[in-house]
Amino acid sequence: MDNLVVLDHPVIKHKLTILRDVNTGTNEFRKLIREITVMLAYEATKDLTVEKTKVKTPLVETEGYKLSGKKLGIVPILRAGLGMVDGVLEVFPAARVGHIGMYRDEKTLKPVDYYCKLPKDTSERDMLVLDPMLATGGSACDAISKLKEIGCGSIRLLNIIAAPEGIEKVNKEHPDVKIYVSQLDEKLNEDGYILPGLGDAGDRLFGTK
Ligand code: PRP
Ligand code: URA
Repeated sequence: MDNLVVLDHPVIKHKLTILRDVNTGTNEFRKLIREITVMLAYEATKDLTVEKTKVKTPLVETEGYKLSGKKLGIVPILRAGLGMVDGVLEVFPAARVGHIGMYRDEKTLKPVDYYCKLPKDTSERDMLVLDPMLATGGSACDAISKLKEIGCGSIRLLNIIAAPEGIEKVNKEHPDVKIYVSQLDEKLNEDGYILPGLGDAGDRLFGTK
């Protein structure tokens, strides 16, 4: 699939295993989400443009590079996407941060909106949408639609774990959006949870269950 990049790295495999573990506590869980997000952020921005510049080392002047092109913005989908914000900001400290609040109705599994605040110049930025879990894909598709409604034309989606069902939905509704995941899991269960997954990402991040 052209629009899907799955990180294949031994360090990610190691960290994901600890992340999945039911005995991993909130503190460790948050740290691992942040660490894996740093790697996703590098991968998802591999094609950013650079321009040449000069730099003086202690010994000589040499050629260097600086990032050019569009500025970056990030949009975590609340709540669980918040856990990925610091990981991206470690790589891009000047990125603007918007927030989209939605939760899945437990019965219908459809996303319910409750908040949206985006940077004024969102349409001029390369936007990274953050959510640890891509399950049915409903939340991600709605968040992407919101960005498109205000004219944003460059959107990438970053997930820690995705189900094939979610990938398919995003690809179908938003074929222009590239998806970066650290792991593609097997399937959804009858309650819409990813298997093997890691459970409820929001609850594990914030210790609410
Ligand atoms: C989780 C997760 C995603 C969504 C994924 O959020 O963080 O936003 O479910 O499911 P989907 O692909 O089927 O839409 P949740 O609804 O549990 O809200 P929370 O982050 O506030 O706990
Ligand atoms: N949301 C989660 O937090 N986990 C899942 O497995 C699916 C949706």
